[in-house]
Amino acid sequence: MRRLLVVLIVVMGCTSWGADAKSAPKAKVAAAKKSLGAPTYLGPIARQLLKQRMARHGRDMMALVQSVLFLDRDTVQRLAGEIATEPRLTRPIAGGEDDLNASLPDRFFVLQDELRSRAQALLEVSKKGDDAAMASRLGELTQTCVACHSAYLEPAPPPSAP
Ligand code: HEC
Repeated sequence: MRRLLVVLIVVMGCTSWGADAKSAPKAKVAAAKKSLGAPTYLGPIARQLLKQRMARHGRDMMALVQSVLFLDRDTVQRLAGEIATEPRLTRPIAGGEDDLNASLPDRFFVLQDELRSRAQALLEVSKKGDDAAMASRLGELTQTCVACHSAYLEPAPPPSAP
């Protein structure tokens, strides 16, 4: 239960993702950031491409929290399944150094895989009808969202950097 509350606090803080803004106090909505922010190492075209791929996550997450809360296991399975099977960006290939993929930190790809496996884990416990485990898996999925946003905005310097 405590973990579920933590998840709620984390997710509900981002009211701009589509929560019922009318019921929240005005000042709080205005203070909430509406997007992740820009890293310094990517140009506007690369960012636009990523933004398009990533935009659905916020909407899915709000619906996912709600479905876990109300023990709507069918919807949890559908949404977790969508996250688990969405197309991923491929790791950079030799000769493609100018591609968007090559400019992203390696950890981005690690976390992209982790997102898939954690969504899959959530799907499986919801099939079993294990509500407590569903709350825990949702918490772990949220950790991956945050970890990737953090790695994306502030990638670790490459090993050769001074
Ligand atoms: C593999 C890395 C990665 C993972 C994992 C990830 N995100 Fe993101 N997310 C991004 C990137 C990159 C952007 C785009 C940032 C930009 O605009 O430059 C983004 C943007 C967003 C946005 C803002 C979209 C917009 O319109 O500006 C939301 C909301 C979001 N993510 C939610 C989530 C949620 C919820 C999860 C977990 C279910 C998640 N993300 C998991 C990388 C990730």
